[in-house]
Amino acid sequence: MDRIEGVLKEERVFYPSEAFRKQAHIGSEEEYERLYRESLEDPEGFWGRVASELHWFTPWQKVLEGDLPHPKWFVGGKTNLAFNALDRHVQTWRRNKAALIWEGEPGEERVLTYHDLWREVQRFANVLKRLGVKKGDRVTIYLPMVPEAAIAMLACTRIGAVHSVVFGGFSAGALADRIKDAEAKVLITADGGYRRGGIVPLKQNADEALKDATSVEHVVVVRRTGEEVPWTPGRDHWWHELMEAASDRCEAEPMEAEEPLFILYTSGSTGKPKGVLHTLGGYMTYVYLTTKLVFDLKDEDVYWCTADVGWITGHSYVVYGPLLNGATTVMYEGAPNWPEPDRFWRIVDKYGVSILYTAPTAIRAFMKWGEGWPLKHRLDTLRLLGTVGEPINPEAWLWYYNVIGKGRCPIVDTWWQTETGGIMITTLPGAHAMKPGHAGKPFFGVKPEILDSEHRPVENPDEGGHLCITRPWPSMLRTVWGDPERFLKQYFSQHPGVYFTGDGARRDKDGYYLILGRVDDVLNVAGHRLGTMEIESALVSHPAVAEAAVVGRPDPLKGEAIVAFVTLKEGYQPSDALREELKAHVAKVIGPIARPDEVRFTDALPKTRSGKIMRRLLRQIAAGEKEIKGDTSTLEDRSVVERLKEGA
Ligand code: WTA
Repeated sequence: MDRIEGVLKEERVFYPSEAFRKQAHIGSEEEYERLYRESLEDPEGFWGRVASELHWFTPWQKVLEGDLPHPKWFVGGKTNLAFNALDRHVQTWRRNKAALIWEGEPGEERVLTYHDLWREVQRFANVLKRLGVKKGDRVTIYLPMVPEAAIAMLACTRIGAVHSVVFGGFSAGALADRIKDAEAKVLITADGGYRRGGIVPLKQNADEALKDATSVEHVVVVRRTGEEVPWTPGRDHWWHELMEAASDRCEAEPMEAEEPLFILYTSGSTGKPKGVLHTLGGYMTYVYLTTKLVFDLKDEDVYWCTADVGWITGHSYVVYGPLLNGATTVMYEGAPNWPEPDRFWRIVDKYGVSILYTAPTAIRAFMKWGEGWPLKHRLDTLRLLGTVGEPINPEAWLWYYNVIGKGRCPIVDTWWQTETGGIMITTLPGAHAMKPGHAGKPFFGVKPEILDSEHRPVENPDEGGHLCITRPWPSMLRTVWGDPERFLKQYFSQHPGVYFTGDGARRDKDGYYLILGRVDDVLNVAGHRLGTMEIESALVSHPAVAEAAVVGRPDPLKGEAIVAFVTLKEGYQPSDALREELKAHVAKVIGPIARPDEVRFTDALPKTRSGKIMRRLLRQIAAGEKEIKGDTSTLEDRSVVERLKEGA
């Protein structure tokens, strides 16, 4: 596996303090081992016990039925996520506890108690009903990070509608594809959102998308910026006007545990994003428990996960997990360096954040901006730190630990995926020693295995292989929306009978997993998943482009940078202007996160005799390697490689 190189050697081991251990939900390695063993030996007993901490309208008959790839969890049980996240707490002293603390990029602040959020969600649930949304209907949510995003999600789950949240940074085209695939009936958007002082024109994008995506009957628009926006009478409605007219009582719909909860699109190794489908009972139970134990969450905590709700991290660990636990969750709308690079640290001090969960890319950016910015703030309320989305290099880990955590806060490096629904591999902060760069141990009920290309378990410590999961876990995806064959092919065909994650990993002698990154054609750019083929098809949709091949290059800040090799059609000449135009074109077709960092023109791409592009070679060339390693005997034209290197 050639991605190991980015990981520096760091042999030091860090331990949680005695004080932290003593107060932790899981305070020793023995306790972890005991529960882990139980979770594998008796999954039904284990998960049944966890699920009974939540409310069920009808109890399940069987905790687990069937096996991979099609397990069923909590069969026969009826429950509701919004009920468990809100009503359950409103009936207790938590009624007036802050559920959501929100800060807008320009600086506004809103605090919603559990009671407030409960009422707002019910009103919006009634709004959706009035617009004709029924159980099972899909609702697309294309919003900035505003409380209305959480309200809309919870309102959907309250009435059994299936939400599909599309990240506000995606383009009109990407939004249209996702609406069409889900056949959404209602779209919820805003007149705009703030980002780095500018305004993201969400409503314009939505209108553009709806020219093509015709299933949408109603558009609900949140007034966020007050900008003038185009309006289609009859179809478009202001959120606040609909809410004014809606009652604040709407009973939660009892839903079958295996009914669809939400769809979330993610990039895979083909051009088309996949709609990952999660179902109610298992997702709810798993996300509830992981939030509680991985973040050692207590009622006194102020918990802040900096992810956008457009990603799975935002679903599971900004909205659902914290609210299921009755916690206070912080939501921030904007950029980490707006107006200055200490915005995060201001927020930590202002609200007394005790748990902070963010991405390695953000940490590396903070390192670059200098420790002067965090040092201007106290940060003394923090007690636990977390990372997610990409491997964290030990240097960034140590900086996070020392400069932000002052050597006092354990760090959880959580490995998981859109498909897994919740955290799968991590240390538990009061139980485990931490090894920078290693995610840690499997969470309860998770049975990982590292397999070689012959599907044999890799037994030697520190030997790399494919990371697979061999047992069903409650929050696993159930299918790819509308494409059950792709579900099987993508996840269960590479290594028959087990779930293949797409990641490489190795396990050390203590059973700690180290994630090596994707082994398929998926890039991880600043913690965001992007399919190389998605970017390639965006490039070839430009009139000048004949062929394109996209690879990742190691990048000190973003983890991976996007490099595009492009051949031009007759009549087009390479130029700096065209290069910039192509970058802008990709940003327009997919969204700014997919903008290539580098476009290289070439007269041919290296291909095998059967016509497959040899990305492995392009990766080496993009990384600036002088000597091309590995077998090139299947190359159709060897001279292409030399010309590509010269063209650098
Ligand atoms: C990568 C994000 C190393 C991995 C929750 C995975 C990580 C992909 C980690 C999923 C981590 C996530 N260490 N790599 N702690 N967490 N990844 O679906 O390659 O956006 O397959 O889910 O991110 O990305 P996704």
